[in-house]
Amino acid sequence: MKSFAFFTAFFALSLPTALTVPVSVRGTTKPLKCAKVNVIEQGTAPWALQRISGSAPVTQNGRPTDELSYKYRYTELEDGEGIDVYIVDTGIDADHPEFGKRARNAISTFDDDLEENSGHGTQIAGTIGSLHYGVAKNVSLVGIKVFSPLFDTKNPAALIANITTGIEAAILLHNARKIASDFKGSVMNLGFGFPKELFDAAGNSDSLRKVLEQAIKDGMHVTVAAGDRARDACTDFPAGYVKDIPGLIVVGATDVFDKRLETADFGPCIDLHAPGGDIMSTTIKGLNGGVKVDSGTFLAAAVVTGVVAGELGKNPNLRTDPIGMKRLIKNKAQKGILRGAEAGGDMLVNTGMPGNPIEEFV
Ligand SMILES: *[C@@H]1O[C@H](CO)[C@@H](O)[C@H](O)[C@H]1NC(C)=O
Ligand SMILES: *[C@@H]1O[C@H](CO)[C@@H](O)[C@H](O)[C@H]1NC(C)=O
Repeated sequence: MKSFAFFTAFFALSLPTALTVPVSVRGTTKPLKCAKVNVIEQGTAPWALQRISGSAPVTQNGRPTDELSYKYRYTELEDGEGIDVYIVDTGIDADHPEFGKRARNAISTFDDDLEENSGHGTQIAGTIGSLHYGVAKNVSLVGIKVFSPLFDTKNPAALIANITTGIEAAILLHNARKIASDFKGSVMNLGFGFPKELFDAAGNSDSLRKVLEQAIKDGMHVTVAAGDRARDACTDFPAGYVKDIPGLIVVGATDVFDKRLETADFGPCIDLHAPGGDIMSTTIKGLNGGVKVDSGTFLAAAVVTGVVAGELGKNPNLRTDPIGMKRLIKNKAQKGILRGAEAGGDMLVNTGMPGNPIEEFV
């Protein structure tokens, strides 16, 4: 029995790819002086991080995409320090050394423990905020576990109930944090999607939309994976809810050639694109040394979550203003450079770092 999830690999543990990971970022990270703020350059980055922090397409020069030989530049204001990122997914392998002490699992909607037993949530967390693979390397990562191998795939009503309950819990945590003196903003990452049929089968078409309306109203920034069915994103949900909830940021996926992934959803419900092909990130420690290369809009959404966290560090006025943040992110995105995105969201997320990294190929 096939599940309705748009990524069929959801709970599958695919075969590891052999990879080598440098032991430390530190050796290759050099602070460069730039006007008043320090610019950090990570010389051991995945391609996606180079792409979003420069204006030029990535020049591979023979390098594979699953290599940490690309360059990422960000300012010290953009490391996401103090930003709360809620990852509504399979949980996070919080002890993974890539997260330092910045990851925790807050909620599971199942009766099991909080353990992450898929890897999916840890991939998302890694792309958002891990030391080597992350966009915003100092965010607080909060796991909200709503998917589990314990899940009964024949029970769509329970699936929707789990997701909705998890999001409600994230909203409560956000609202409690909002009044704390060290609150700097919350981003919620939704790296999943389902067709309307699932909601019909569940006899529940409204609860997920309502809870997302609440999240935006309460000032959470919410990024949503467009979907990976190679069809109109307006037919996958929660992405399709952007028509009713304009504060959601719906993200499509591109490859290293700035081309939309063939598997990615498209159309007017997409706000913008982000790198989502061959994305190297963390997975559960016990799998392949805790590293995985994968593709999908769930990873593209994670990239944008990291970018939003970075912008929150620089724009405290947008702390609880999802519409304003979305406008900023879209303004800064690169226009007219993608292929295959004509049907919607024809722009690529960019952090606005001036110029491009100096490429020294070995
Ligand atoms: C995160 O921020 C803290 C406080 O500014 C700093 O001490 C620490 O080095 C930062 N960690 C990373 C991974 O950037
Ligand atoms: C989550 O789904 C399971 C069925 O797979 C169900 O037993 C459980 O009650 C659900 N939890 C919530 C909070 O809806």
